[in-house]
Amino acid sequence: MRLDKFLANAGQGSRKEVKKILKDGIIKVNGEIVKDGKVHIDPHHDDVTIQGETITYREYIYLMMNKPAGVISATEDIREKTVIDLLEMEDTFFEPFPVGRLDKDTEGLLLLTNDGQISHRLLSPKKHVPKTYFAVIQGEVTETDVQAFNQGVMLDDGYLTKPGHLKILKSGIRSDIELTITEGKFHQVKRMFEAVGKKVIYLKRISMGPLGLDERLKLGEYRELSEEEITLLKEFEPEKKQG
Ligand code: URA
Repeated sequence: MRLDKFLANAGQGSRKEVKKILKDGIIKVNGEIVKDGKVHIDPHHDDVTIQGETITYREYIYLMMNKPAGVISATEDIREKTVIDLLEMEDTFFEPFPVGRLDKDTEGLLLLTNDGQISHRLLSPKKHVPKTYFAVIQGEVTETDVQAFNQGVMLDDGYLTKPGHLKILKSGIRSDIELTITEGKFHQVKRMFEAVGKKVIYLKRISMGPLGLDERLKLGEYRELSEEEITLLKEFEPEKKQG
């Protein structure tokens, strides 16, 4: 790994700041001053110090964001604001990406990481990772809908969804519900409600696998996962389901 990237990932500043500390001659690799950021180092074995203090290496970052509406779940876009644009510069050095997508108008729990393995595990259709959404629905959600979702509903493209667990929190001309699904088809929640003739007017993800949204996070805020949460994610084994 390049020394400048290592230093940036270790929180020693932006690329520009890293260049400066290198130029200042305060960085040593195995006891030798190194000023060239392009030099390759082995982050696990080489001893990199700044003014004599060893810099501990950190490869991965795991962030939980309360995604606001109006930003897209992508790393870059020429027109739209992305969830990466909401991050502090020092977190962007790790090059995190969103784990799956929430629609532009959907709020709530979004994980961001640069750990491809975890992301893959959470998104793999084979893993059936449950995701729970809170939604406000135009129209009265009924027990018939609960049963329909329990069987799986036919989407507009003919796809029959896996069973979804629908809980009615409040029923009326507008209904509050919670829906847990184990797939991630495009606009899935909205299309499941369309399949039963109803419209989602507000959507927020409240959990993904073992992680619940930290309600202390305001819209657009994020925080690092705790060690405990990272372990939960790594060890998470969803229930094995058929089909
Ligand atoms: N289902 C949707 O329809 N939209 C989302 O953002 C997530 C799930």
